[in-house]
Amino acid sequence: MPSNRIEVAAIVGSLRQHSVNRSLFRTSMLVAPERMHMYEVPIDRLPFYNEDLERQSDPPPVADFKASLARADAVLIFTPEYSYSIPGVLKNALDWASRPSGRSVMKRKPLAMLGASIGRSGTMRAQLHLRQICVQLGAIPLPAPEVYVTFAEGKFNSLGELTDQTSLDQTKQLLSNLVEWVEVLGKLRKSTS
Ligand SMILES: Cc1cc2nc3c(=O)[nH]c(=O)nc-3n(C[C@H](O)[C@H](O)[C@H](O)COP(=O)(O)O)c2cc1C
Repeated sequence: MPSNRIEVAAIVGSLRQHSVNRSLFRTSMLVAPERMHMYEVPIDRLPFYNEDLERQSDPPPVADFKASLARADAVLIFTPEYSYSIPGVLKNALDWASRPSGRSVMKRKPLAMLGASIGRSGTMRAQLHLRQICVQLGAIPLPAPEVYVTFAEGKFNSLGELTDQTSLDQTKQLLSNLVEWVEVLGKLRKSTS
C-alpha cells in the first residue's frame, strides 16, 4: 500500500441485500485509485436518534460509527432516493454524526456522493438534499462530477457489477477527483491553521 494512502469511510444508504447502491459501492471499491483505501461504516445497528440516549453518552454502535468516521480522510456516501430525498436510515446516521451540536464528526471532512435509482432522476433530488444537509454537518462536498445512475436495474448484471460504461467512467472520475479534493482541502487547512 502506498504511504500517501487515503482512508475513505463509505456509507451505503440502503439496508436491502440486493441494493443497487450497495452494488455501486462494491464496484467503487474495485475501481478506486490505488492510493484509496475504502471501508464501509455500517448504519444498520444505529438506534433511532434520541436526545435522551445521547445525554447518557453515545450508545456503543453510535460511538463506533463516529470513531470510524473520525479516522477517515474523506466520507463517500452511496444514496438511494426515497420520496425525493435520502432514506430515513441515512438521515438518522447523519443526525448522529452531527451531534453534539457544533462538534460534528463530519466538520471540515471532504465528502463525495453518488447514487443509483430505478427511476430517471438517478437520485438527483436526494443528492441535492444531501448537499443541503452537508451545510449543517460542516462536511465539504466535492462539486463534480455528479454521478446519477438512472434506471439502475438495467445497469448491473446478475453479479451486481456495473455494466454501464458511462456510469463506470463517471464513478472513476468522482473517485479520482475525491483524491484531489482531500489534498486541496488538506493544503488549505494547513495554510489557514
Ligand atoms: C419508500 C421508497 C421511496 C422511493 N422513492 C423514490 C424516489 O423518490 N425517486 C426514485 O427515483 N426512486 C424512488 N424509489 C425507488 C428506488 O429508487 C429503488 O427502490 C432503489 O432500488 C433503491 O435503492 P437500493 O436498490 O439501493 O435499495 C423509492 C423506493 C422506496 C422503497
